[in-house]
Amino acid sequence: MIRSTKPGFLLPLIILAPLSGISSLPFRVLNREFGCRFAFSEMISARSLSYSSRRTMEMLKSNAYDRPLGIQLLGADTYYILKALDRLKDLKFDVLDFNAACPRKKVTSHGKGAALLREAGKLKEILKTLVKECWVPVTLKMRLGWDSREYCLDIAKAAQDAGVNAVFVHGRTCVQGYRGEVDYSAIRKIKRNLNIPVIGSGDILSPEAAKKMLDKTGCDGVVVARGALGNPWIFREIEEFLSKGKMISRPSPEEVARAMKRQLDLTIDFYGERNALIKFRKFYIWYTRGFTKTKPLRINAAKARSKLDMLELIEEFVSIRRND
Ligand SMILES: Cc1cc2nc3c(=O)[nH]c(=O)nc-3n(C[C@H](O)[C@H](O)[C@H](O)COP(=O)(O)O)c2cc1C
Repeated sequence: MIRSTKPGFLLPLIILAPLSGISSLPFRVLNREFGCRFAFSEMISARSLSYSSRRTMEMLKSNAYDRPLGIQLLGADTYYILKALDRLKDLKFDVLDFNAACPRKKVTSHGKGAALLREAGKLKEILKTLVKECWVPVTLKMRLGWDSREYCLDIAKAAQDAGVNAVFVHGRTCVQGYRGEVDYSAIRKIKRNLNIPVIGSGDILSPEAAKKMLDKTGCDGVVVARGALGNPWIFREIEEFLSKGKMISRPSPEEVARAMKRQLDLTIDFYGERNALIKFRKFYIWYTRGFTKTKPLRINAAKARSKLDMLELIEEFVSIRRND
């Protein structure tokens, strides 16, 4: 089921999603260490990037190990999008993705993200500009539409006509948010009618879910998003399941602790101890969810003030699981 293309690339592609507030360098590096082969930055506002805002430049930090890397741009104004491209000139990355998928009100109320699905003509013009001006392949991340799926194929075809190299399709509309079933048949329709790779997104929370997306849509790859939160094992698990039909056994509590410590160290190296703890708390919750008797630990994690506090909570997690 897994086919090799060029060195380092396998089909189907299994891609770490752009995740706003999450997909920073330490998160990407951790997932790569566990088997992720392609990762995206979180969405980067073209306007903030055009001003080289400090926070935005931090989101764009990368290193030689962090490849191949996709950077995702968010915007609706060609002026800022072109300025943003100019700011990207000195950075090393492999794909530029454009966001027509974000459903957040503070994004769509400014005509950005999924709001562009209501303005297919404008979206196509932006994509044409990006394809013309950008020096790496350009892709589009879209939802099926604003409130209906009726035009999803037209939008995807317009993107292909604009010259994009692939489309990532989250199989829900904007108004659905994360509710309701993923519409596999809509993704299949897009895949069947396009000549460029189509990558499916939505509810890829397990190896079986990845296989279901590939089988039901015929798409060329999957985007792993919420499924990677506190779960960097998912990439190898999916590859193993697709290539050998085998489920790798879930990580032991010790392995979970090792991953947590590694992520904590990477996060501290990047953000410094104080900010890293704030960023890491939610990961502690994700790593330990689903395990019985660990709720008090998650409550305490929200109060952890130092690396030492967090390491103690990680050790407590292991000892509770060992004695269970
Ligand atoms: C916390 C969070 C942040 C996200 N940030 C982005 C983003 O910056 N850009 C984007 O295109 N999609 C973003 N998404 C959407 C995901 O990339 C993905 O398409 C969506 O979560 C569906 O996949 P899933 O059901 O497997 O999580 C985000 C999703 C979540 C949960």
